Amino acid sequence: MQIYIAPLQGLTDWIFRESYSQHIGLFDKTFTPFIRVQGADFYRPSQCNDLLPVHNVFQKPVPQFLGNTAESFKRFEELCLQHAFSEVNINMGCPYPMVTGKRMGAGLLAQPTEVAKLLEGIFAETKLKISIKTRLGLDNSADFEPLISIFNAFPLEELIIHPRIGKQQYKGEVDLSAFAEYAPQLIHPICYNGDILTVADIEKVQALVPQIDRFMIGRGILQNFFLLAEIRKHELPQTEKVKMLRNFHISIIEYCKQKYSGDLHLLKRFEELWEYHAKGFENGHKIYKQVKKSKTLAQYEAVIFNAINELN
Ligand SMILES: Cc1cc2nc3c(=O)[nH]c(=O)nc-3n(C[C@H](O)[C@H](O)[C@H](O)COP(=O)(O)O)c2cc1C
Repeated sequence: MQIYIAPLQGLTDWIFRESYSQHIGLFDKTFTPFIRVQGADFYRPSQCNDLLPVHNVFQKPVPQFLGNTAESFKRFEELCLQHAFSEVNINMGCPYPMVTGKRMGAGLLAQPTEVAKLLEGIFAETKLKISIKTRLGLDNSADFEPLISIFNAFPLEELIIHPRIGKQQYKGEVDLSAFAEYAPQLIHPICYNGDILTVADIEKVQALVPQIDRFMIGRGILQNFFLLAEIRKHELPQTEKVKMLRNFHISIIEYCKQKYSGDLHLLKRFEELWEYHAKGFENGHKIYKQVKKSKTLAQYEAVIFNAINELN
């Protein structure tokens, strides 16, 4: 079984990925959060920093493209080739109205002819392996039906499906029955993504669609860093887990000191991580409150290392 970490903007950038790879474990694949390209130009050039070789020493990620024209993709591909990447992922899932309103991300899913045009333009020239990360639709999971033959017409590396529709954002239930209906109609390897928090959640998907042996996990990993080890049946003593967790956090703090200037920027970043990470701690609610209240890096460190030591 292959396990990937999901791209999470603001959370699973190189700082997280490098810290996790060194101290917790190696996923079968990692992905950068989306890099948006609009009008054949990088929308936020700082997003490209995630691709720099110096930031991807321990595991090379699959860069993710958010855009809707072959020209924009070409610009993205140039950068990826420059940094010796061989595979990229196209985002057809971002649900935020500022993205979908520009017919990008999940906004593309209601426009099958645009999806076909984009893929034709990309495959006419690309030297890269291409995968797609998609939802089932923008406003309706029936959006997916015309997309099946379009996806099947291109030599995709794999298709990662998050079975929600765009308007749900990350709320409500994943639609497992629609996923079970559509997945067997696709000729490409399918990776399931969405709400995997435990090994039992993986088994539930496999019971429904036995061919699925690739899973992408986002929030479930942030909540339980050792879910990867649990899935792989690697037994880890508690003392070892505590040590790994401590080393991860030492590492992420060090990288953040390089990236951000001033405690406030660092603290904002850590607050976002702990919004999810704290859920894996017994008294997570209290820890998250203390993280949010921390005014200096020293205060933050005292809160989190105390919480980690208590796991012993
Ligand atoms: C804060 C946040 C940021 C996200 N950023 C991205 C992104 O950059 N690219 C992407 O394809 N999906 C993004 N996603 C979606 C996740 O990759 C994933 O599809 C979603 O969280 C469902 O998986 P999970 O339940 O395992 O977390 C984001 C989700 C969240 C909550």
